[in-house]
Amino acid sequence: VTLLDRTLAPVALGRPAVGRRYSTPPQPVIAAKQPFPVEVKAGKKYAWCACGHSKNQPFCDGAHKKAAPGISPLRFIPEEDKTVWLCGCKRTRSPPYCDGTHKDEAVQRAQLSAQP
Ligand code: FES
Repeated sequence: VTLLDRTLAPVALGRPAVGRRYSTPPQPVIAAKQPFPVEVKAGKKYAWCACGHSKNQPFCDGAHKKAAPGISPLRFIPEEDKTVWLCGCKRTRSPPYCDGTHKDEAVQRAQLSAQP
């Protein structure tokens, strides 16, 4: 897999200046409490939704532009045809793939913000 964009969320660099207000970066919402099996094709570009707001889960539909500015989709190109499990909870530590984090109680008890 070739990752085109490893950035999921902006990282604040440096110290905040005195007197300036900083908000916390947007956090992804839980789109689903399980991964999505997807048959990917070698050489094709995919954009995995990292914000959780897309109505086209697990892929980006551009919803982050209004719902979660600062979170960008993770673009990747598979090197071979195969079935992959793409994260639906947006809490994986191995994006765009499921790493089992969705089994955490916090994810399983959370409200879904949008149904895919
Ligand atoms: S669906 Fe997110 S870690 Fe499994």
